[in-house]
Amino acid sequence: MEKKYDVIVVGELNVDLILNKINGFPKIGTEILSEEMEFTLGSSSAICASNLSSLGLKVGFIGKLGNDIFGRFIIDKLQEKGVDTSMILMDYKLKTGVTVALSYEEDRAMITHQGAMSSLSVDDIDPDHLKQAKHVHFSSYFFQPGFKDSLHLFFQKAKSTGATTSFDVQWDPSEKWDLNLEEVLPSVDIFIPNKVEIQNLTGHTDVEAAINSIQNKSKYVVIKCGTEGSMLFYNGIQITKQSFIHDKVIDTIGAGDSFNAGYISKYIQGKSPEECLVFGNLMGAISTTKPGGTAAFKNLADIMQIAKNNFNYSE
Ligand SMILES: Nc1ncnc2c1ncn2[C@@H]1O[C@H](COP(=O)(O)OP(=O)(O)OP(=O)(O)O)[C@@H](O)[C@H]1O
Ligand SMILES: [Mg+2]
Repeated sequence: MEKKYDVIVVGELNVDLILNKINGFPKIGTEILSEEMEFTLGSSSAICASNLSSLGLKVGFIGKLGNDIFGRFIIDKLQEKGVDTSMILMDYKLKTGVTVALSYEEDRAMITHQGAMSSLSVDDIDPDHLKQAKHVHFSSYFFQPGFKDSLHLFFQKAKSTGATTSFDVQWDPSEKWDLNLEEVLPSVDIFIPNKVEIQNLTGHTDVEAAINSIQNKSKYVVIKCGTEGSMLFYNGIQITKQSFIHDKVIDTIGAGDSFNAGYISKYIQGKSPEECLVFGNLMGAISTTKPGGTAAFKNLADIMQIAKNNFNYSE
């Protein structure tokens, strides 16, 4: 049976209020001005879903919003990017999540109110929805306490529909890193953390030891290493691919989520692990050429033109 979606992304949703060009961070009891302000679609999961859709894939989203002005803004922005929002739950009793970011020169301070994202749980996920996807991606475990101790049940549900699965754990704001990987990874085909996340999760500062401790638990372990590119481990094989270094970096917001979109898009086309890794690096690099995580991605033809002109990449 033809599946309705290439990918369903399950994860957190929030708006970002970014205050740029401030004159230092405010002290308690004072008020300062910011010269620039942006109000955008936030969240790793939404950036990944938007960029998968810009790459030409059929993408659906499962998440939770308040039935409020921010929730409706998020729905609009996802739809503009071509993401199917019909499975997103909107609840009058909840508030949509918000991140306020203060950008001071190279530094950022952020505060997130999780709101509705904290009440999405495995019980909200309808297996009939997952059945319609070739691939299911989950992101940002620690921002969604509704999945605490039940993430393995979510991935088992996804696998039981015949879909392949991927998991980007993302940062833990509490820095406790309390997640039972042994339980979760057997139902994850592609585990895609970054280097610092895998070190924290496994308790190994040595990256090799960190990888060894989880190798073969999921089919592919992919580690994102910023400007150092990325690494892939599977069946005892290691592949390392350099990043597409360039001198026009605007910001690195969403580089990891763009990497995920690139990697997954090639994976579901059945491409080799090398091709998936290189395309992930390419999407990460393209993301850094525009502010935020989605601005650099319009449609497949435009993305491939940027890849050719700026990064000497063609297929
Ligand atoms: N400055 C950069 N120049 C070129 N490519 C980059 C740059 N930063 C990141 N990338 C590419 O994007 C990929 C993912 O970025 P990164 O390793 O920062 O992921 P992450 O830490 O998960 O990011 P995020 O903060 O978005 O979650 C890298 O593996 C690399 O290929
Ligand atoms: Mg990341």
